[in-house]
Amino acid sequence: MTFRQKNLLGIEPLHPEEIRTILDLSDRYVDLNRGASKHSDVLSGLTQINMFFENSTRTQASFELAGKRLGADVMNMAMQASSIKKGETLIDTALTLNAMHPDLLVVRHPQSGAVNLLAEKVNCAVLNAGDGRHEHPTQALLDALTIRRTKGRLHRLTVAICGDIAHSRVARSNILLLGKMENRVRVIGPPTLMPAGIADFGVEVFDDMAEGLREADVVMMLRLQRERMDGGFIPSPREYYHRFGLDAQKLAHARDDAIVMHPGPMNRGVEIDGTIADDINRSVIQEQVEMGVAVRMAAMDLLARNLRAVPEGVMV
Ligand code: NCD
Repeated sequence: MTFRQKNLLGIEPLHPEEIRTILDLSDRYVDLNRGASKHSDVLSGLTQINMFFENSTRTQASFELAGKRLGADVMNMAMQASSIKKGETLIDTALTLNAMHPDLLVVRHPQSGAVNLLAEKVNCAVLNAGDGRHEHPTQALLDALTIRRTKGRLHRLTVAICGDIAHSRVARSNILLLGKMENRVRVIGPPTLMPAGIADFGVEVFDDMAEGLREADVVMMLRLQRERMDGGFIPSPREYYHRFGLDAQKLAHARDDAIVMHPGPMNRGVEIDGTIADDINRSVIQEQVEMGVAVRMAAMDLLARNLRAVPEGVMV
């Protein structure tokens, strides 16, 4: 079992063996979560604080559930109502919370790099629940677990990530993870939604769905991240749907057994047709949500083991 991290800030620092360790443990938590009694005490006595500076439904709920199922004391900070609104800096808030001796701090923030900065100031384990357009490691891990369980492997697959690549931390973390596990990654979207230098990430770039989806094993759709757009990146949602929205006709270019994924929240009729999203033979969107709880349990379990391995009072 290999997992040497103090924090989970991104996929970038992880070794493939560490990714496998998280996924293997997640499989065990999937079984626990499907059982009648969903409780374990591996985080018993530990305090988990969730700080979400950006809206979240799935991620916050599943981190909360994951902590509770593992027996931690879980506190959700209402960031809208916090002193941040009174002008306190992120670092001051972090130091205040740190003084309450949390063991696990789960943070989502609109600025790329904010979570890494915060991790330098506190002595508990920090989990990045999404920072700006930078990374969203637990999302990429839950996507990987979903792929591995439905396809039976996590290597030598062709994965097409489609839509707003430029503003997406989900795309970035997935590109890193899938690359480390030796998959072929394609990104598809309009040139206005492709980040500069994307080809340096070892991906193939397409601006045509029919071409990009050819023979794909996995089709991952992304939401247009309008909150991160400061101008007109697309002509209109209707035009965007016509060219890049996933419907049966476009999906027909992928392999017959290709699975359809979406991290949520979904905009039906913009990036994906509702009937495709609901097609239980193709869509694994609900499985992704289920895997999310298990992956967050595994990640917090592993970080807590490393916390306990460090002698009391020693900062690493
Ligand atoms: C994603 C996010 O917040 O980055 N959602 C999620 O965590 N499930 C994607 C998105 O907001 O579109």
